[in-house]
Amino acid sequence: MTHPQSNTPQYSALQLAWLQELGIEKPWLPSEQFVPTTVSAPVSVAVSKAPVVSAEAVVSAARPMATRPSGASGARVVASAASLSATDAPVDTRALAAGASDMVALADIIHACQACGLCRERQQAVTGEGVMQPAIMVIGEAPGDYEDRQGRPFVDRPGLMLDNMLSAIQSSRTQNVYVSNIVKCRPPGNRNPKPAELSACKPYLLRQIELVRPFSILAVGRAAQALLETDESLDNLRQVTHSLLVAGQKIPLIVTSHPVTLLNHPAEKAAVWQDLLLVKTVSGL
Ligand code: URA
Repeated sequence: MTHPQSNTPQYSALQLAWLQELGIEKPWLPSEQFVPTTVSAPVSVAVSKAPVVSAEAVVSAARPMATRPSGASGARVVASAASLSATDAPVDTRALAAGASDMVALADIIHACQACGLCRERQQAVTGEGVMQPAIMVIGEAPGDYEDRQGRPFVDRPGLMLDNMLSAIQSSRTQNVYVSNIVKCRPPGNRNPKPAELSACKPYLLRQIELVRPFSILAVGRAAQALLETDESLDNLRQVTHSLLVAGQKIPLIVTSHPVTLLNHPAEKAAVWQDLLLVKTVSGL
C-alpha cells in the first residue's frame, strides 16, 4: 500500500473510484492509520455444476495458511470463538458431510441432497467456487434466483459488486478467494432461509471450510449472524476480528455488509471499505 520511497499510500484505480464515489477526492484510509471502531457488543467444493473455476482448476493460494500472520495487527480480536457446531443439524447431513473425502465428493453429496424441502424447488444446488487454501473465504447466506439458474454463488449485479469489493483489496475468486453460502439451495422467492434449513446445511459448510482451509472468513450480511450464532446488529459485529472454530481450528472471521446492501445503499461503502481493510490485514495481504 505504501510507496517504498515515501509515506504516501498508493491506491489502485478501483480503490480511487470507490473513494471518489463517496465524495472523497483524496484517500484518507491508509491501513497504517486505521484505528478499529470501538464496539460495545461481542461477538464448495465444492464446485458448482458450471463453475468459473472448476474442481480440477482450483489452484493453491500464493501463501499457505501456516505462513500467514496469526492475528490482525491493529485489530481487536474477540477472545471467545464462536463454535459452529452442527449438533442441532440432522444426523444424516452431518454423516454425509463427514464422509466426503474431497471437494468433488462433497459437491456430489450436496447436489443429491434432499435433507430439507429446498431441494424440491431448486434448479440446482450452488456449492461454491474459487481457490483452495484461500486468503479469504466469503460466505453468504443462501443463493438467489440467478445463482440457482447458473449454479454459481454471487452472480449478476451482487456478484459484480462482490468482485469489485474483492478487487479493491487486490483479491479475486481466481486468485486468492473462495466464495460460498451457508445454505446451498435457493429458498423460494428469495426468502430468508429457515433455522431448520440453515442447520440442515451447516454440516456441508463446515466440511467445506475444513477442505477449503481458508486463512480468514468474510461473512456478508445475515450470514454473519448465522455463523456467529447471534442476533447482534451487523454494525455491532463489524470492525472486530471474531473467530470461528471449525474442526479444532480457529479461523478469523470479519463481518461486512452484503453486496446487495451496497447496491441499494451506496453510502455503506465507507463502512465496507474499513471492513475490507480489516480482512486484508487479518489475512496478511
Ligand atoms: N446472496 C447471497 O447471500 N449469496 C449468493 O450466492 C447470492 C446472493
